Amino acid sequence: MSDFEVIIYEKKDGIGYVTLNRSRSLNAYNIRMRDELYQVLTAIKDDPEVKVAILKGAGEKAFCAGADLTEFLTAPSPTIARQVRWERDIWGLLLSITKPLIAALQGYVLGSGLEMALCCDIRLASEDAQFGVPEMDLGIIPAAGGSQTLPRVIGGAQALEVLLSGRWLKAEEARRLKLVNQVVARDELLPAAERLANKIKAYDPVAVSYAKQAITRGLDLSLERGLELEANLADYLIKSPT
Ligand code: COA
Repeated sequence: MSDFEVIIYEKKDGIGYVTLNRSRSLNAYNIRMRDELYQVLTAIKDDPEVKVAILKGAGEKAFCAGADLTEFLTAPSPTIARQVRWERDIWGLLLSITKPLIAALQGYVLGSGLEMALCCDIRLASEDAQFGVPEMDLGIIPAAGGSQTLPRVIGGAQALEVLLSGRWLKAEEARRLKLVNQVVARDELLPAAERLANKIKAYDPVAVSYAKQAITRGLDLSLERGLELEANLADYLIKSPT
């Protein structure tokens, strides 16, 4: 896949690398990015050679500074701009991928950039990462899943405080709140993500996919239903051909 303008997609030894590639705009999420991501994520979902994916941002300053505000400004209202952007359900697609997704987060991780990271399974951050949900400043609310994913990750009260105060979190606070799993030095970010990806890709992909589903789907269930899910997945795994 090489005809992309704002995404770089590479596949190496079982790992899919997705790079948001608009560094001059801090990798802001625009409609072109939505369309290219849709193709790339579909490929990751369907391609048996890809066992795990790493999402990252190009350049030095950002993973993604949120929705492209220039597109917001050319639409009649932020709500209509957003409507256009959400017509393809990138967030639903991300959440439907049963392979592990690792977000390697540097610099600005704002708005839909943070929401994209929240749709990933494991978030690693470099020491310079900053996290924010600036939607309230634009008179809108998060709609790339953030109002649901953020409280599931950091808890309702913390999510509401971050959203309503407009306060940005530095990497270390993000780690304390469990928004990110780990904070590493900037030059260690990709190597740390790759170490984890290499570990994951060495496991049986069906077992990995079931482990992910047991945890991610189980979080939305009662304990009783979650235990049923676990038992079913364990059973399918035993019966699945090796
Ligand atoms: N959409 C479109 N362009 C964006 C952008 C966005 N969300 N965020 C940054 N850019 C562009 C800037 O316009 C600038 O372009 P220019 O060089 O042509 O002027 C370039 O990226 C670099 O940004 P700049 O503001 O100069 O960098 P900075 O380090 O001084 O500030 C931010 C970085 C993130 C604090 C600032 O760019 C910002 O507040 N961006 C908007 C964040 C936001 O509200 N996102 C929407 C969430 S819903």
